[in-house]
Amino acid sequence: MIHEKKDKFPANFLWGSASAAYQVEGAWDKDGKGPSVWDVYTKVPGTTYENTNGDVAVDHYNRYKEDVALMAEMGLKAYRFSVAWSRIYPEGRGEVNEKGLQFYDDLINELLKYGIEPIITLYHWDVPQALLDAYGAWESREIIEDFNQYCITVYKRYGDRVKYWVTLNEQNIFIGLGYRSGIHPPGVKDLKRMYEANHIANLANAKAIQSFRKYVPDGKIGPSFAYSPNYALTCCPNDVLAFENAEDLSNNWWMDVYAWGKYPKAAWNYLEKNGLIPTVHEGDFELLAAGKPDFMGVNYYRTTTVEMNPLDGVGEAKMNTTGKKGTTKESGVPGVYKTKRNPHLEATNWDWEIDPQGLRVGMRRIESRYGLPILITENGLGEFDKLEEDEAINDDYRIAYLRAHIEACQDAISDGVELLGYCTWSFTDLLSWLNGYQKRYGFVYVDRDEHDEKELRRLKKKSFYWYKNVIATNGEQL
Ligand code: NOJ
Repeated sequence: MIHEKKDKFPANFLWGSASAAYQVEGAWDKDGKGPSVWDVYTKVPGTTYENTNGDVAVDHYNRYKEDVALMAEMGLKAYRFSVAWSRIYPEGRGEVNEKGLQFYDDLINELLKYGIEPIITLYHWDVPQALLDAYGAWESREIIEDFNQYCITVYKRYGDRVKYWVTLNEQNIFIGLGYRSGIHPPGVKDLKRMYEANHIANLANAKAIQSFRKYVPDGKIGPSFAYSPNYALTCCPNDVLAFENAEDLSNNWWMDVYAWGKYPKAAWNYLEKNGLIPTVHEGDFELLAAGKPDFMGVNYYRTTTVEMNPLDGVGEAKMNTTGKKGTTKESGVPGVYKTKRNPHLEATNWDWEIDPQGLRVGMRRIESRYGLPILITENGLGEFDKLEEDEAINDDYRIAYLRAHIEACQDAISDGVELLGYCTWSFTDLLSWLNGYQKRYGFVYVDRDEHDEKELRRLKKKSFYWYKNVIATNGEQL
């Protein structure tokens, strides 16, 4: 639809920005924190870009007041951050670490002092290493109760002040990269184990939501899904079928479970025929159905374009983690689909296709299929930024990216989507997991690189001032 007049953003719209503990905090072993799987995995040579890790990251643990003051200066309405499970439970379970709880108390209070709505992510990929050692973390049903206990501890501690919560961040990514391609911890390449671990993560997600109802009855909770809506490369029926396959296996496989507590049938049958479906215990589907979220959290960066893939066609391919444009190869599932470059879209240096309309398409699909409100929990552009001699950072490309995506949000609202808020990724620059520090996303430049932490100075980019005005005008001036 082309709207002659667009609806306005609602008055209470959450203009936000996001981060994750491992990517910003540093202080990886301070004040009683236990190691997470990322603390251990990144120390294995060759796992990350130039062997970078989050030991110091951007030192948010020690500089959170300075960072929150910058958020306040910008007029940010909401800040999404994650709690590091191993700061609260260094061993993953058992003894609680009061100093860890205190850190997030202080952060929350600092945000509230400036009227910034805290949005807590309960899990952003950093499972305590102790649980991996004890029982294989997401591969054991023991984690359901341990995760639940950890969640209850933080609900009880912060639930009086925090009303927006995210359960699992990008389950499809931490499970997919952790157990299929083996490039995230625990570095496993085994499809059967992947689907088993994923089912257990689904149960843990549902259980955490069930407990939430008791401890934070007036709050809202949902997962954050890494949503890459699919397109068929052509209108050839085979490609359209490949598109349906990709939707079922890469999106509905997760979102149907979140929203309805069941897996999409064609994907289930396909996996069953290939010996890949997860073990289901009595009561699993009841629990999944009981974990209905209040919103679908969406992390959106790009769409995926697919065509049919023959039975002897391509499988997994290496990801571009260097920023050398054009190094991504086609990948897919033989007999199901394979990815293609979309000839209508430009891509970033990491080969992520830029597609604001795809965000609108995705939101429309969620609205039609699930009828759930949406919270955009991440959207942003990872690029090389240049610190000029006068200390300016002229990230006009980021402004253009965000502007176009916010326009798409307004279009979606005008289409009838209930959108609660929009969090950019990210507020300050941070560690981009496998991609080091050179892939920057922030409004605030942090002066460090892969090998030199320097003084970790914070410098406002051009986009900082731009987003400030977007917030001040409630999205009227883009
Ligand atoms: C998704 C993840 O949640 C976040 O941690 C990551 O850095 C961004 N996407 C960018 O890749």
